[in-house]
Amino acid sequence: QQINKGHYEHYMQKEIHEQPESLTTTMRGRLIRGGSCKAKSVLLGGLKDHLKTIRRSRRIVFIGCGTSYNAALAARPILEELSGVPVTMEIASDLLDRQGPIYREDTAVFVSQSGETADALQALEYALENGALCVGITNTVGSAIARNTHCGVHINAGAEIGVASTKAYTSQIVVMAMLALAIGDDTISNQPRREAIIDGLFDLPGKVRDVLKLDQEMKDLAKLLIAEQSLLVFGRGYNYATALEGALKVKEVALMHSEGMLAGEMKHGPLALVDEHLPIIVIATRDACFSKQQSVIQQLHARKGRLIVVCTKGDSAAVCPGGSCRIIEVPQVEDCLQPVVNIIPLQLLAYHLTVLRGYNVDQPRNLAKSVTTQ
Ligand code: G6P
Repeated sequence: QQINKGHYEHYMQKEIHEQPESLTTTMRGRLIRGGSCKAKSVLLGGLKDHLKTIRRSRRIVFIGCGTSYNAALAARPILEELSGVPVTMEIASDLLDRQGPIYREDTAVFVSQSGETADALQALEYALENGALCVGITNTVGSAIARNTHCGVHINAGAEIGVASTKAYTSQIVVMAMLALAIGDDTISNQPRREAIIDGLFDLPGKVRDVLKLDQEMKDLAKLLIAEQSLLVFGRGYNYATALEGALKVKEVALMHSEGMLAGEMKHGPLALVDEHLPIIVIATRDACFSKQQSVIQQLHARKGRLIVVCTKGDSAAVCPGGSCRIIEVPQVEDCLQPVVNIIPLQLLAYHLTVLRGYNVDQPRNLAKSVTTQ
């Protein structure tokens, strides 16, 4: 497979901008539009013989590292909602450190772009020894995780070369949303919700194309932040993962200290950091947590926080009545798919910050695309 940068300067830039296409490929052949006698549904060939077992499992455990862990965290709420099965999260190395409990009645879902990460592979061995049903979600056909799990789904995002994962992240979220739809498929009461999400998936590549138009705006923001020491990102609900992943992008490529934080925890410590200098990004798009995020913004504002707010198009007055925040408006999509849209301005910000600060975009110092040693 010939992979080149085309007219882009860096792989990371190319991979950010090709997300409308990579997401389309991820969904190709897997969404059923429905019709007169058929309901809208999802078809995941690699899982169809195992869905019953997954539905009957006592718990679904997501296991991954880095960006792949964050993608699973973004999908967790919709999986809980549609499956009714408790979903817990494990960072692979931490599960191994604790030798945490994994049972025969568990479904362990391994999320890994490369399918070769040593920590994830060892956690897979551990889960297999403990008798769990093991599902692999990878971008690499024939990878160790794809081979050694009982079943799985390929995300089909295409080769990702930049060390900082971008298009794989959004495709992973989409695959896990489709997983939630497939598991929840036997429940009639959630059919309208599932149909709305399927419609949202069909529209998603177009919305991603829209949000990519923020490129110049994010470059301008990067110019303002170029000399900062530190950046905080607050999110909650579906977008707690967006905060963690946005901060991870900034620290891994732009080499700037950055922390993603749960907005609900703000008053339990992070609030002490707030002053008129430290830049703070707040994710406050419309969903069930919106009013709570509005009050977080008010509290930050009252402490003279330097705020950058990611909000739904047309919501700038609702999130920042005083008008003193910098606003990034994104298109609205179905709540559980919003993390796919919301991460993109942050990917662009990390990219431009890196270029402006003069660091290596595709191969940040000290990092590897795939960490195959422990
Ligand atoms: C490395 C990469 C990260 C990646 C993580 C997990 O740390 O630098 O970008 O998220 O590994 O990799 P995986 O291939 O398992 O998703």
